[in-house]
Amino acid sequence: MTMARVLAIESSCDETACAVVDGLRVRSSVVASQIEVHAPFGGVVPELASRHHLDSLAPVIRAAIEQAGLEPTKLGAQLDALAVTDSPGLVGALLVGVQAARGLALATGLPLFGVHHMEGHLFSAFIADDSTASEPEPFAPHLALLVSGGHTELVEVHGLGRYELLGATRDDAAGEAFDKVAKLLGLSYPGGPIIDRLAAEGDPSAVAFPRAMLRSKDFDFSFAGLKTAVAVHLEREGQPRSRAELADLCASFQAAVVDVLVAKTCAARRARGCERVHVVGGVAANAGLRARFDDAAAREGFRLVTAPLRYCGDNAAMIAAAAAAHVAEGRAPRVVVQSSVALDEARATP
Ligand code: KG4
Ligand code: ZN
Repeated sequence: MTMARVLAIESSCDETACAVVDGLRVRSSVVASQIEVHAPFGGVVPELASRHHLDSLAPVIRAAIEQAGLEPTKLGAQLDALAVTDSPGLVGALLVGVQAARGLALATGLPLFGVHHMEGHLFSAFIADDSTASEPEPFAPHLALLVSGGHTELVEVHGLGRYELLGATRDDAAGEAFDKVAKLLGLSYPGGPIIDRLAAEGDPSAVAFPRAMLRSKDFDFSFAGLKTAVAVHLEREGQPRSRAELADLCASFQAAVVDVLVAKTCAARRARGCERVHVVGGVAANAGLRARFDDAAAREGFRLVTAPLRYCGDNAAMIAAAAAAHVAEGRAPRVVVQSSVALDEARATP
């Protein structure tokens, strides 16, 4: 496969990001987080996100170009293509990235590839900073658990652009549950990493929270009931009175999420006979989840691939790598901005 050099922009949610890759090799990856902007509100405020993307995008693109050692005035000759996250996401936020990318495409004459954000997350498990990194696995076949702030999905990857959705959350995404429970506990946004750290100190069996849909025969998830169970527990018992009690609550909540994610992924793997499982997305950074998947892989004898920690959260390197794969396969460049579209139907519309 020829290695396409691609510059990508990602602005679908609350990170403004730009990166340059050679195929799966990352030459630069710059991420400007808006966490501080949204933290006071306990979640992402769409209008603020768009406005901050506008402010951050030019310096972020400049930094990515510079760190990749490219000449800003010669991008047309130094790159093979441009890419941008065009779906799904906050529509105002997406549009800021897409319009900037269209401007760059006009100025450089380079083709512009729209990338589905979750296809980007799939590629996060393949990218590397170091050219001496071991040869990556073939892209397909594998089973991917995509766990982020907006999505919780089990996808069987048959090939580039051939994604079969086996199951998804029927209400909240796993990351959303982490963030909402953190808010209930008075912790700041985003709550996932904070709960993760506290959970390490706590007893996961302290509170018996429900494991929704654990025994359902499908591969769907539900996390809204768990969030309610935490709220009901807090109403009954009051807020935790010590750090130890807080840690126990976090550990018990996290164990409930992790149990379901690992059990359902393993069930899907067995049903489909997949030998390789990838865990990607913001929640894939969770230490408890990674540890439990390590155990499951050892016990059941499958190959486990997790995205490197720095590429679990939103970034543009994964978007660029996905586009580079499309370039290498000779796909036609296309941008279709859609705020909500599933991975398996993303490229179906002409
Ligand atoms: O993939 P991502 O950066 O953005 C989306 O596409 O949504 O995922 C963000 C989500 C947030 O909900 C955040 O709380 C969660 O990932 N997250 C974690 C951890 N780090 C980030 N959840 C649990 N444990 C973590 N260590
Ligand atoms: Zn994401």
